[in-house]
Amino acid sequence: MKISFVEPDLPRSGAVVVGVWEEGVLTPAARRLDEAAAGAITRAMSAAHRFRGKKDELLPIVGPLNLSVSRIVLAGLGKPDAADARSLEQLGGTLAAHLNQAGETQATFSIEVDNGASIGPAAAAAHLALGAQLRSYRFDKYKTKEKPEQKPSLADLAVMTAAAGAAKRAFQPLQQTGDAVFFTRDLVSEPANVIYPQTLAEQAERLAELGVRVEILDEEKIRDLGMNALLAVGQGSVRPPRVVVMEWRGAKETGNSDAGKPLAFVGKGVTFDTGGISIKPAAGMADMKWDMAGSAVVIGLMKLLAARKAKVNAVGIVGLVENMPSGNAQRPGDIVASMSGQTIEVLNTDAEGRLVLADALWYCQSRFEPQVMIDLATLTGAVIVALGHHRAGLFSNNDKLADRLIEAGRAVGEQAWRLPLAESYDREIDSDAADVKNIGSGRAGGSILGAQFLQRFVNDVPWAHLDIAGTAWSTKDTATVPKGATAFGVRLLDRLVSQYYEKE
Ligand code: BES
Ligand code: MN
Ligand code: ZN
Repeated sequence: MKISFVEPDLPRSGAVVVGVWEEGVLTPAARRLDEAAAGAITRAMSAAHRFRGKKDELLPIVGPLNLSVSRIVLAGLGKPDAADARSLEQLGGTLAAHLNQAGETQATFSIEVDNGASIGPAAAAAHLALGAQLRSYRFDKYKTKEKPEQKPSLADLAVMTAAAGAAKRAFQPLQQTGDAVFFTRDLVSEPANVIYPQTLAEQAERLAELGVRVEILDEEKIRDLGMNALLAVGQGSVRPPRVVVMEWRGAKETGNSDAGKPLAFVGKGVTFDTGGISIKPAAGMADMKWDMAGSAVVIGLMKLLAARKAKVNAVGIVGLVENMPSGNAQRPGDIVASMSGQTIEVLNTDAEGRLVLADALWYCQSRFEPQVMIDLATLTGAVIVALGHHRAGLFSNNDKLADRLIEAGRAVGEQAWRLPLAESYDREIDSDAADVKNIGSGRAGGSILGAQFLQRFVNDVPWAHLDIAGTAWSTKDTATVPKGATAFGVRLLDRLVSQYYEKE
């Protein structure tokens, strides 16, 4: 879809969208169009008894008299003081879906947010466009028999605003955000016969084009480093593991070494999780192709930071393995010595993400001494029981970092909800035979025990863990996220970086 920003004018073709505030108050552009269309808008509003201009309500008027446009769409804007960047993204997304369904190929958004809106015209136009872009994602590369009418139609979107130049500039970093989100969604959507440790590492390697320093650790190097917990997860697979280290250095040199310390992002990259010898049931196992979502978010985030030349130092580390049962697989009861020196009793081979992260986190903090370290992982089914699909589980040893993550998530619509860490939970993963065991004794507090396990490998670095098992994949369309891979975390962490850590 091509997106442009244009000066206000009367659209001559395609669909035109105008805004209506709650209680049916027409925006100026809607009033002008109503005049040109001989009162078609006022007539439609009085005939459509239930259209009130509530947020995201749409009312199409197909083939209006006196005009050459194919349709007018009235778009509810809700209350003026509630219109913000996020609500406009949602409207942009809802409109993109509507227009694609209607078969429109060309559309103009003539949506001015005027009286009292808390967002300026250029930002408003840019966020409408981002919403439309985000909703237009589709993973259809393996569909060979789709008819044209089954495909999305919208090819050309013009966003009208008196601040066209400023809107275009405001859209540039947002478009890069959209591109990074699409990149991550693609990686997560690919099946496990296409994306496995080696090929996922190759995707990360491409970030070098943007100035990211990319280092790929192969099996031998991983063994030399002593990452035996990560290796144990991968040992049942014919596909060898990889660890990828991505470094972006965008901070100005200040001589103050603390300011130069990187932000670190660590991702679980289990490219397929069968459960191993503690094998999962057949139903739904295909979902485990997206058990590498945490790593795809880290790779997409690093791509975005480099693309928009973020003024920070950041490091991304992903642990990539495939968890398979085989004659070579690890067994329940095996004890492995992690890179940290702590021994782990593996009582369930399906609790594998924490084994991968144990070594990745330890390696990250010991090599980079980051100012903060944040991991993302589709770690536990239990987080879905606790929070459903609308919040990621957030755990942290640092209140300030936790608050920042919650705030950043709220701003971009990728929300996190904090859950506790405490000594009493930690006791539940003490092992009789080793330093720690990888599961508790029952199902109680499953997500918390997973987080407690990770905490044993972070030393005292300010650290946060996002359990994205419930939010990485969606089975329903939402305004800006079509069903499928969400890339949850890319926007949240990009916002965290820009809001709190980038210095001019
Ligand atoms: N990858 C799964 C968690 C998961 C489940 C992600 C459902 C997305 C949807 C993880 O490796 C796992 O299997 N966790 C186990 C842990 C248990 C054995 C302690 C779980 O949640 O059942
Ligand atoms: Mn598992
Ligand atoms: Zn897993």
